[in-house]
Parts: sequence; C-alpha cells; structure tokens
Amino acid sequence: MLQGKRILLVIGGGIAAYKALDLIRRLRERGAAVTPVLTASGSQFVTPLAVSALAGSKVYRDLFDLTDEAEMGHIQLSRSADLIVVAPATADLMARMAAGRADDLASTLLLATDTPVLVAPAMNVRMWDHPATRRNIATLRGDGIAFVGPNDGSMACGEYGPGRMSEPLEIVAAVEAHFRAGPLAGKHILVTSGPTHEPIDPVRYIANRSSGAQGTAIARALIALGARITFVTGPAEVPPPEGADVVRVQTARDMLAAVQAALPADAAIFAAAVADWHVANAGASKLKKTKGGMALEFAENPDILAMVSHLPDRPALVVGFAAETDDVITNATAKRLRKGCDWIVANDVSPATGIMGGTENAVTIIRQDGAETWPRMAKDQVARRLAVAVAEALGNPSAPATVS
Ligand code: C5P
Repeated sequence: MLQGKRILLVIGGGIAAYKALDLIRRLRERGAAVTPVLTASGSQFVTPLAVSALAGSKVYRDLFDLTDEAEMGHIQLSRSADLIVVAPATADLMARMAAGRADDLASTLLLATDTPVLVAPAMNVRMWDHPATRRNIATLRGDGIAFVGPNDGSMACGEYGPGRMSEPLEIVAAVEAHFRAGPLAGKHILVTSGPTHEPIDPVRYIANRSSGAQGTAIARALIALGARITFVTGPAEVPPPEGADVVRVQTARDMLAAVQAALPADAAIFAAAVADWHVANAGASKLKKTKGGMALEFAENPDILAMVSHLPDRPALVVGFAAETDDVITNATAKRLRKGCDWIVANDVSPATGIMGGTENAVTIIRQDGAETWPRMAKDQVARRLAVAVAEALGNPSAPATVS
C-alpha cells in the first residue's frame, strides 16, 4: 500500500514520542521510506540513534547544520516527501505551525512546503481543551492540514480525557487513506454522525436512538473512494471509521462549532441525528428530586445543515438526511427546500421498519430534479451507493455509474 512512498516524519517533544518509533517500523513494513526529523524537545524523549536505526536513515535535527544544507537543503527535504507526518504534534509545535513560525528545522520544513501534512496531536487534556489550542487547530484545518486523533484515555500525567496520541496503526491507517487512489482522491468531505447529548445537569442528558451506523458506513465508503474525511460525531455506539479525522462532540452546539472548524470542504454529509432542542435551564450541579415534579425549559438548537447550506462559500454538495415517520417523501421534499441543501436522503424510521438502530436502510434520494428510491439494503451498501453518487456529483468522470 505504501510501497515507494516518501514520508517525512517530524517527531515533536512529548511522552508519545516513544510511539513514533513503532510508527516508523509500521510505515517501513508497508514499503514507505521514512526520513525522520527530531525536534530539540523530541530528542529529550527518544534518542536520535534509536530513530535513525529504525528509520534506516539519517535523522535531521538542526536548521543550521551546514553539512545537511550542503547535502540536502531544508526546503528540498520537505519538498521531496510525498507526505509529512507530525507525530507527536505538541500544542507548542501546532501553535508555531498555525502562526507560520520558522524557528527550528521542523517548523521551517513545515512552512517551506506545499506537501500535504498529517498531524497526530498529543498533549495534556487541559492543553487540548484550551481556547488557544482550539483556535490553532481551527486555523490548521482551514489551511488544509489533516488530523488523526487524539484519542480519549488516561495520560502519562495522570489525567483522563482527549489528548492521547493515536496508536501507530491508527496513524498508518490515516497515512494509507491519504494515498488511496480513487474518484474522490484529493477531496475533503465532512460527515456528521451519531446522536447528540443535551445535558439536563452534569450527570443526565437527553439523547436519541441513533447508533451512528449509517454515518460511519458513509464515511468508510467515502474513504474507500479516496476522500479525506473529517468525521464529526456525537457519542455513538459504533466505533468511528479508521483513517478519518475524528472530532468527538456531545451537544448540537459543539457539533456546529466542530463543523465550522472543519470547513472548507468539497462536500458535506449530515447524517447526525441532531437534537432540535437543548435544555435552557440545565443545572450546573445535579438536580435534586423535588416533590410535585419539575419543568425543563427548551431552547432551539442551531440547524447545522441549514446554516452550512446557506454559507456563501458552502461545499459544492450538501447532503441532509430526513428521518420521518409519516408522509416521508412529501415531508422530505419540503425539508430539502427549507434547509437549502442539494440532496436529502429520506428514510422511514417508524418503529415497525426496524431502521433506527438496525443494520438495514431503505432510502429515497431527493434532488432538485426528482426523487430516486433505492431498494431496502444493508446500511453499508446504501453508504457505498451514496459514496459513488457523491463522486459523480463532484464531477469525477472515472467514478462508476452504479454499485451493486
Ligand atoms: O430537521 P431535521 O432534524 O429532520 O433534519 C434532519 C437533517 O438536518 C439531518 O441531515 C441532520 O443531520 C440535520 N440537522 C442538523 N442540525 C440540526 C438538526 C438537524 O444538521 N439542529
């Protein structure tokens, strides 16, 4: 899969740097040539000798190393790669990337190139959540930089939450997804998926029965056609697709922020079952049982699909879903116009259909020029067929017309 690919691996300074050693092995096993660049802080965590021994290559470390400049200038170093992988990417390294700094070899390489960049962040959960890091990540996404991870988990510092660097094989999957040829190669597609959780208080929430199965299958099918996917997901039952840039959210308002940060995109598929309302009077601490009941006040959530559909620089193709229980086609047709999206994938989620939370789906695709009903089939198959239709709509003539 990665035979002959040249990967420049920038290893930043974090405890996750030890995983970069395994990443080098895994990439080389698959045929890639890895040229390592170690930051000054990275070499506090892994030794240059270990990195270079595993990579079977010189390790580059110093911007002002005249020998390197004579052998291979730093500009040449980054331009000769097919992909630059930054793993681990620390908060500091990402801040410098977002600001366009060039104050060491790694940041200079990243600034002096238009080679695609894949970033695997790793940091403490509070650093990850800090508004400065959020801003930097939004900037980098806007610059077209792809992300893999981070995962939730316990950290070397003893805290728990998002910030753990993706495992080497997850990073390899994202690298492979980058190189996958196909009709959607080079396209960035945003997919929302899963339910949202709207808090009532810190321990209770309002949710819905969406498993995330259909959105995940769609993302997987798009990846298989070569697309780069940003997958914004609520707390779903099914694991997110491998090779996607996964952004985990809880509420509809979080989902909107994540979607805005993920744009621009060539297409956006809104498969999430977003709550229409959030609790306006959610408790800051656990609500106590009261005699005589209690009333929750609801406030409307932002309509993410409608908002994106009406952006002046919206994706070329915006696809919404309509889960209906009656008058499916009539309601979904009206919904397409109301939301302003290009297509609506309509389905009947009446309990008798077993579709919500099930493995099969029966959909009608409603476009401006008419509706097309597909037979009931596995959600994976609906996803594959939809992915092909997306490739056709984005104007790639090599996409096959139909998929069985
Ligand atoms: O209005 P309704 O919830 O039926 O619309 C469904 C479509 O709109 C889905 O594509 C869903 O992902 C999207 N949606 C959204 N933001 C909301 C509500 C729905 O993106 N707040």
